[in-house]
Amino acid sequence: MSKNEAITYSGKTALISGAAGGIGFALAKEFGELGMNVVIADIDEAALENAKQQLELLNINVLACQLDVTEYAQWQACIEQTIATFGKLHMVVNNAGVGGVPGKIEQTDHDIWRWVIDVNLMGVLYGTQAATPEIKRHGEGGWIINVASMAGMMGVPYASSYSATKAAVVSMTESWSVELKPHNIHVAALCPAFVKTRIHESLRNKQDKYKSAKELKEFTPEEKERYKKSFGQAAAFVESGIPADLLAKRVVEALDSGQQYIFTHPNYKEATDYRAALISKAFNDAEQSNLVKHLIGDDMVSL
Ligand SMILES: NC(=O)c1ccc[n+]([C@@H]2O[C@H](COP(=O)([O-])OP(=O)(O)OC[C@H]3O[C@@H](n4cnc5c(N)ncnc54)[C@H](O)[C@@H]3O)[C@@H](O)[C@H]2O)c1
Repeated sequence: MSKNEAITYSGKTALISGAAGGIGFALAKEFGELGMNVVIADIDEAALENAKQQLELLNINVLACQLDVTEYAQWQACIEQTIATFGKLHMVVNNAGVGGVPGKIEQTDHDIWRWVIDVNLMGVLYGTQAATPEIKRHGEGGWIINVASMAGMMGVPYASSYSATKAAVVSMTESWSVELKPHNIHVAALCPAFVKTRIHESLRNKQDKYKSAKELKEFTPEEKERYKKSFGQAAAFVESGIPADLLAKRVVEALDSGQQYIFTHPNYKEATDYRAALISKAFNDAEQSNLVKHLIGDDMVSL
């Protein structure tokens, strides 16, 4: 959907991962109220059923689909169900994500990194890969909205797995945005700072396949205490965040004007300005380098 084109949402279909709660549910409600059919997909079966009932009470056309975003076959099944129910797919919101466990690099378990990478990064790849052929098929154009984070715009200390995956999501968005533009598919990265959800309780969604044998039995009291401490500060930040409903309205406002990076917290601009200034200074340093300054003026490769 290109900029300045009048956007019609009504009658189109959106598939939203992680839509049983938090940001995903708020987006499902917002797009549903704009007249879209919504497919809510989530790993948490009970929460999914509850979300479905809430959306039905608002007279929204809704299909619930149980989905673990780390399983590509489940994405394919969910998209098949979407087409069987609503005929076409126009939008995928790759929203499902987990916060990992904040902590020092020496303390971070490899299984936590694998879990965070699989959900936050591979989940976004799988969703886009499974949905893109269907969005291309009808020729009406559409949207891929990837839920990144401000953490994708700057590496957050003690949250490197989370930041790394969110930076990857921003990068994937930039690549796909160029690739899919000729098909009138708008690809956007949503980059919020704190939003009041249950992201700090992400361990509730950690699949058995990412748990150590010890963890499958039970956390020791020391481990419980460590996790509780790790989340303490993050929980306070999340609790102070903006409401998810406000964020959902901001997303629609940004899509209406074709924005590729969707920011919800203008007060965080200082952070990206600081990063941009550091990068600019580093280029100035390279321009002064006797080793490489002969490259100034050469054309850069542009794809
Ligand atoms: N809350 C914030 O402050 C904040 C800030 C920036 C970005 N985000 C991003 O927003 C997105 C949504 O998170 P939220 O804040 O609403 O958190 P949340 O924990 O409230 O909701 C996440 C939803 O994703 C589901 N989910 C988790 N693992 C899944 C999996 N493997 N497959 C399918 N569903 C799964 C959960 O069941 C839950 O319904 C995430 O990508 C998160 O990183 C959140």
